[in-house]
Amino acid sequence: MSDTTAQPKSATKDAPSKPNWWRQAAVYQIYPRSFADHNGDGLGDIKGITARVPYLKELGVDAVWLSPFYPSELADGGYDVADYRDVDPRLGSLADFDEMVSALHASGIKLIVDIVPNHTSDQHEWFQEALQSPPGSAARDRYVFRDGIGPDGSQPPTDWQSVFGGPAWHQVPDGQWYLHLFAPEQPDLNWDNKDVHEDFIKTLRFWSNRGVDGFRIDVAHALTKDLSEPLPTWEELRHLMHENLPLDGTHPFWDRDEVHEIYAEWRKVFNEYDPPRTAVAEAWVPRPRRPRYASAEGLGQAFNFDLLEAAWDASEFREVIDDNLTLSSESGASSTWVLSNHDVVRHVTRYGLPQDPDTKNGKSWLMTDGKEPKLDRELGERRARAAVLLLLALPGSTYMYQGEELGLHEVGDLPEEAMQDPSYFRNKGVEKGRDGCRVPLPWTPDGASFGFGSNGAHLPQPGWFADVAVAVQENDPASTLWLYRRALEARHKLQSGEALEWVDNGNAEVLHFARPDGWQCVTNFSAQPVPLPPGEVVLASVPVDDEIPADATVWLKV
Ligand code: GLC
Repeated sequence: MSDTTAQPKSATKDAPSKPNWWRQAAVYQIYPRSFADHNGDGLGDIKGITARVPYLKELGVDAVWLSPFYPSELADGGYDVADYRDVDPRLGSLADFDEMVSALHASGIKLIVDIVPNHTSDQHEWFQEALQSPPGSAARDRYVFRDGIGPDGSQPPTDWQSVFGGPAWHQVPDGQWYLHLFAPEQPDLNWDNKDVHEDFIKTLRFWSNRGVDGFRIDVAHALTKDLSEPLPTWEELRHLMHENLPLDGTHPFWDRDEVHEIYAEWRKVFNEYDPPRTAVAEAWVPRPRRPRYASAEGLGQAFNFDLLEAAWDASEFREVIDDNLTLSSESGASSTWVLSNHDVVRHVTRYGLPQDPDTKNGKSWLMTDGKEPKLDRELGERRARAAVLLLLALPGSTYMYQGEELGLHEVGDLPEEAMQDPSYFRNKGVEKGRDGCRVPLPWTPDGASFGFGSNGAHLPQPGWFADVAVAVQENDPASTLWLYRRALEARHKLQSGEALEWVDNGNAEVLHFARPDGWQCVTNFSAQPVPLPPGEVVLASVPVDDEIPADATVWLKV
């Protein structure tokens, strides 16, 4: 009989100074405004992160990816950057940032920061200058300004819709229009303009010189555009998203081939450093188009969101794993496994919903505030525990989202007046938006904002946070927090090469694979227990005896 209750030992980690530190790293995403609030203004901040470095160390992560912390009006949770080379004063100062970097590095944790190169905030000095400058000026050329159509130019240049809903063009007082693929407060930059190239190189060096180890590139597939006439209509474009994008790079704004010239330029900058700075592309492109973003001449790694989009289903998982291992052998990069981030319904909740194609991403549940279809909270938690053990056993890096180590569910019933996400406001009645996965973390079972800060939280926290707070789970060896700690610790010891071999077990609902040196992982996706294969149980997502229960994963040493 083996269970999940042994005390975690102190982590034994390689000094992460090697150039390949990222290949099999466990990366923890911090959404800074919702992580920990040090100054008591209701927004998480940099000092809050620094104070929690011991927590991150104990968790056993190799790196932190920090979502934007730059000055921002928060029209899109910080993805509207007003100044790329500073810290939002509400979150701290550059000195606080340096202190955080030192604290992370002293604990052997790398730091990846988010770079948002497709658009700036409308508050950015360049955009303000563009607004005050006439059509055709150098200041306007840094963005995508066009005249409108119709006799008086009162119609937008195209009928395209933005990602958050509503028109993708906004008119300025002199009658011209600018393109914004996201919110109107996020004007798209013109990557044909040399100032834009030079400024981002300056930004990459600025943070690299401050000790940042890598970059996460926001909507990396959007930067270059071909707006030459005739432009397609929205009817022609609207289904061409993500997996349905053309494979030849001919979409006017997503995944054009020219974007790789930018990343080749950036790669030279990354390689000026020792170890070279890393980068990971957020590129929602068809699978065959991913390796180019991940190549050693480009960004070096690209997100694979396929498991985040998959239902809890063995054959879907198997296909995604096989495909992505093939893609990483094409690019030479390691794969990236992700279940949750700040843009999607938390996976604990997704897995507790009916796993049919219409509800697997949780959207229909969100529209009904969690009342229909019924959420099975425990089932979601159980599957999520099984899923993370499976992910952490795969070769490649795993990107985890803050709060998933607590088994946090989505907060599905935020009141309308609390909502912040532009995708909610621009899509009312269609999308609930992303605020439900961005609610500030519970650190303690009581106190103002459950230990997040001393004075409330910028999104309301539900009462059930008391049961799942860090301090509660720390005292409970059966908790999800303990499972993550033990898994991350064991993974450091077990991980060697990047090979994976499937072990045939004759049951299509059980995925069983072997890694080098006798490490095996078995996940039972079915609703029935299955026999435990031979080997010593290293870790299990639920207590096991001679059987693996339904919806559970076991790590074996064979
Ligand atoms: C990315 C970010 C998302 C943001 C969008 C626009 O998809 O992950 O949060 O809203 O880019 O910057």
